[in-house]
Amino acid sequence: MTIFACVNTKGGVGKTTTAVHLAVMLARQGKTLLIDGDPQASAASWAAWRRDNPEYTPSPTTTCLAGKAIFSEGKQLAAGFEHVVVDAGGRDSVALRSALLLAQRAIIPVGASNLDAAAMTDLLTVVELARDYNPDLDVRVLLTRVDPRTKDAVEMLEFLNEQGLSVLTTKVCERVAFRRAIGEGATVHELGRDLVAIAEMDAFFKEVTA
Ligand SMILES: Nc1ncnc2c1ncn2[C@@H]1O[C@H](COP(=O)(O)OP(=O)(O)O)[C@@H](O)[C@H]1O
Ligand SMILES: [Mg+2]
Repeated sequence: MTIFACVNTKGGVGKTTTAVHLAVMLARQGKTLLIDGDPQASAASWAAWRRDNPEYTPSPTTTCLAGKAIFSEGKQLAAGFEHVVVDAGGRDSVALRSALLLAQRAIIPVGASNLDAAAMTDLLTVVELARDYNPDLDVRVLLTRVDPRTKDAVEMLEFLNEQGLSVLTTKVCERVAFRRAIGEGATVHELGRDLVAIAEMDAFFKEVTA
């Protein structure tokens, strides 16, 4: 059993998008739990929309947990599943810490067009927290919402490498299909319209489960 956590203190970087796609792809292989640990409950909303569309299957079992319960309750719940994905972050630092403690593999989505200092501080804070709370945690940065027309991702990659961070080779670009899929309680695979988006998610999945 592997427990993944999609974490970042910054919002809008693609935590929920990454978490729900990962959870559905894992659910194809075995019983999967998706823990929504963000008070904004976007993953839970996605799961609710998903229930209206029986053709979107398989589904992870989705539950909301807050703060310390992500670790304590999450640990107990996880025992009944083959795979677990936690969507955590936002400004709830207790939730973030609990998720980092529970997880074996952390994925930190970073908006590649967010080259501002504040976003970098957020990222490094999460990495530092992860190292403090769970030295065994495997931390991987995922460049998301990449604009292929700019060099932002290249610059970001240089920065992340300088920091000694492990960055996934797969980059997820800014694509309408991702926004549409989430809004429908689906994945880009299930919408089936954007083959490049599907390929990006498949590559991400392969890399992160290797
Ligand atoms: N690769 C992408 N391409 C286009 N839109 C995206 C992408 N990833 C996320 N979004 C959109 O950006 C917003 C924030 O994404 P979300 O996954 O909810 O981030 P977070 O959970 O980190 O706040 C949502 O409206 C989502 O649909
Ligand atoms: Mg979210």
